[in-house]
Amino acid sequence: MPRDFRSSLPEGVLPLTSHLGSRPLKALGLNDINESSKDDSGVDKPSEDPTEGLPESLLKANERNNLHPYVRPLTLADVDSCVKLETAAFSENERTPRDKIVYRLTKCPELSLGLFTTAGPDSAARQAATSEAGKSEFSEQPEKKAVLLAHALGARLNSPVVTDESMMLPPNWDTPGQEDSQIGHISEARTVAIHALAVLPEYQRKGLGKVIVKSYVQRMQHSGAADRMALLCRDHLIPFYESCGFKNSGRSEAQKYGGNWNDMTLEFDSSTPSSV
Ligand SMILES: CC(C)(COP(=O)(O)OP(=O)(O)OC[C@H]1O[C@@H](n2cnc3c(N)ncnc32)[C@H](O)[C@@H]1OP(=O)(O)O)[C@@H](O)C(=O)NCCC(=O)NCCS
Repeated sequence: MPRDFRSSLPEGVLPLTSHLGSRPLKALGLNDINESSKDDSGVDKPSEDPTEGLPESLLKANERNNLHPYVRPLTLADVDSCVKLETAAFSENERTPRDKIVYRLTKCPELSLGLFTTAGPDSAARQAATSEAGKSEFSEQPEKKAVLLAHALGARLNSPVVTDESMMLPPNWDTPGQEDSQIGHISEARTVAIHALAVLPEYQRKGLGKVIVKSYVQRMQHSGAADRMALLCRDHLIPFYESCGFKNSGRSEAQKYGGNWNDMTLEFDSSTPSSV
């Protein structure tokens, strides 16, 4: 991360070096792994590809580090980026519609996180579906945009597991005095649900999903603002969420978005390690 980058992070931004392991590969003593090829006289010469021979997990960590990703709470100014991300990551019948994103970012913006990279005009991230909606976040680098790569959209609910009602958009939610106290976000409730998690398809399987979920869990746990977290997932993602600290609580009764969900839960108590 360039020195001026960290000092210019906007308020609320969490740099991710603690999750990502920011030590350069050289500092880890891994350059040697690449020095296997020999020249005509049999003398070792360095590989032209500095990543050749590295374990996949380190390559992924290196790729993530090169993005200098950072996490911050989302605001209404991010709605267009979130809509584009949902469109890129989900089929039409599973994605979160714009009005629900607006609702959540109006009612409880502190429960939605975005993972961004700062992209210059030649950066590959400028080709991403979310790039056009990105904005310059650093006044000293106006040519660079914050491009949304992943988001986790949350809300509070009155149940230990995600319910159909908690996923619904209350009618008249934006009319003062007409709020529904049973569906959608319940502001005084102690369970926080991640209702939508998405990573741009071309940035998937690089560890970014895990980074944003762990970051979300840590924020909730450290703030003391929740007793537990909950979410729904398909069978194939149970191990992913387990690796983020959630436990499989069995088949969900929720039927929205096609049903067949699993309840994933994470209780915050004194025995929950803060490093999940
Ligand atoms: C699911 C999703 C959020 C995961 O994010 P990601 O950045 O791709 O995941 P990570 O790289 O952090 O994955 C870490 C590990 O979780 C597991 N995992 C991640 N995605 C998986 C998938 N689709 N199927 C099976 N296992 C998966 C793997 O073990 C992976 O490690 P590996 O890549 O070394 O095998 C992302 O793929 C996505 O946005 N998918 C489309 C939308 C979606 O399904 N959202 C979740 C709704 S509950």
